[in-house]
Amino acid sequence: MARAQQVDFLVMGAGVAGLRAAVELADHGDVLVVTKESVGESNTHYAQGGIAVAMEGEADVALHLSDTVAAGDGLVYLPAAHTLVEEGPLRVTELIEWGAHFDKENGRLLRTREGAHSLPRILHANGDATGAEISRSLAAFAGAHERIRFAEWTTVTGLVAVDGSVVAVDLLDREGLPQRIGARSVLVAAGGAGQVYSDTTNPAVATGDGIALAAEAGAELADMEFYQFHPTALSLPGVPRFLLSEALRGEGAYLRNDRGERFMERYHPLLELAPRDVVARAITREGMGAEPGASRVVHLDMRHVKDIDLHQRFPGISAFLARYGLDLQRDLIPVRPAAHYLMGGIRTDLHGRTSLRGLYAAGEAACTGVHGANRLASNSLLEGLVFGARAAQSMLADGLPLLAADAPEKVPAHLTAGEEERLENVITGLQHAMWMYAGLLREEATLREGLAAHAACEAGLAQFAQQGRGTRRLAEAHAMSRIAQAILHSSLARTESRGAHFRNDYPHRDDERFLKHSVLRMHEGREEPVEFEAW
Ligand code: SIN
Repeated sequence: MARAQQVDFLVMGAGVAGLRAAVELADHGDVLVVTKESVGESNTHYAQGGIAVAMEGEADVALHLSDTVAAGDGLVYLPAAHTLVEEGPLRVTELIEWGAHFDKENGRLLRTREGAHSLPRILHANGDATGAEISRSLAAFAGAHERIRFAEWTTVTGLVAVDGSVVAVDLLDREGLPQRIGARSVLVAAGGAGQVYSDTTNPAVATGDGIALAAEAGAELADMEFYQFHPTALSLPGVPRFLLSEALRGEGAYLRNDRGERFMERYHPLLELAPRDVVARAITREGMGAEPGASRVVHLDMRHVKDIDLHQRFPGISAFLARYGLDLQRDLIPVRPAAHYLMGGIRTDLHGRTSLRGLYAAGEAACTGVHGANRLASNSLLEGLVFGARAAQSMLADGLPLLAADAPEKVPAHLTAGEEERLENVITGLQHAMWMYAGLLREEATLREGLAAHAACEAGLAQFAQQGRGTRRLAEAHAMSRIAQAILHSSLARTESRGAHFRNDYPHRDDERFLKHSVLRMHEGREEPVEFEAW
């Protein structure tokens, strides 16, 4: 059998965490960054509002910490949050030195505010295109390094573990051909899984591949019941759930129900700037019609905001809305929540180490516990920088050897048009079931409906698996199915409501039993009982 190709470090994902890690690793070895589409097509690229960072000294950092902890609804792992807010300023300063341009006025960085922040601390770029600027600048900086190579349009389909250590990855190259690449260590920085829900702000690549593959290889997942739903995605029939940044509310936007009332005072003293989970549930409740299944429209209203030029401040959002004849300065903008960010993921320590030797994780794919049950707005880009760098440092410190791995058997990699259609139907069925049954408001009966839909999805996928073939879309479907399985089982096990996880049948927080993180292990695709651990 032929030997697999080898590289020192393999990074799965080219968002902020993966790119930041690659830069750290490249002075010490050859790095291959594998990404499913072109570099830049990641959740990072679509982040609008900004990057939260406390750059004004100790008191500022302490306040950022307390806001992060308060938003996380009791479950933030304090050492992780300390690490985030304390190392954040250094990482952002470094990023600016590497070429990222944040918006300034008279030479001073501008800062905006979002939900649950006690003051304006969020840096932004080109108004509402912060993620794109971070992605652009990091990709350019990493791309200039001679030891970093990018494998674009390449899908990772498996993590190869030998005696409990990850030693290689299987992938489909841009021609759809299977390859195996051996590495000293592998970093999963492949982002979140918004595509598991029918309504999401995430791009098509966000199918949770890294998390699912890690689980299948035996790594522990944590806090998978905590999926954050962004309160305000554009709600127009047939139009993607385009993100309408929380920074709009930071700059004064109101939320109004179909009677024109500002309703947030019934839900939280911080009104439109309440924590994200509270606002998302409030919109859901206001949007429920009298008839089962019917919905009322909730709007974002900026018509009263006269002190800033909204088109200049939010150029990307304004341009997108203009395509549909909407204008922030003139119109009420219809909104609804959409799946946005996974607080859970591959369980790691503060250094990106997972429960498997040779496998590391950072960014949205990882769960350090830094966000607890609900992430503070604009903490995710910072998380990618801080924990991406840390994971790379531990990959270097651990200095694992390069082990030989065999090349994979070649398998035909295509589906017929009819099979592709069948596969899409299987995926769509799962996405709709997840939205209906494991969305913002959950209960045992709906979660069990979700499990039935998941079983149907698995049965649908088994037909393709039996034929032993691999394509990117099949790999994504398998990943989404694993993610759904993990979300459903973790949500059933947490019989309380906390942060982004709300159970109609257990509407209160239960600190006595659940001031703990859920941990899920899988074995050959089957989940073991969810355990709860105090970290
Ligand atoms: C937003 O701009 O509202 C998104 C920022 C985030 O998800 O933190």
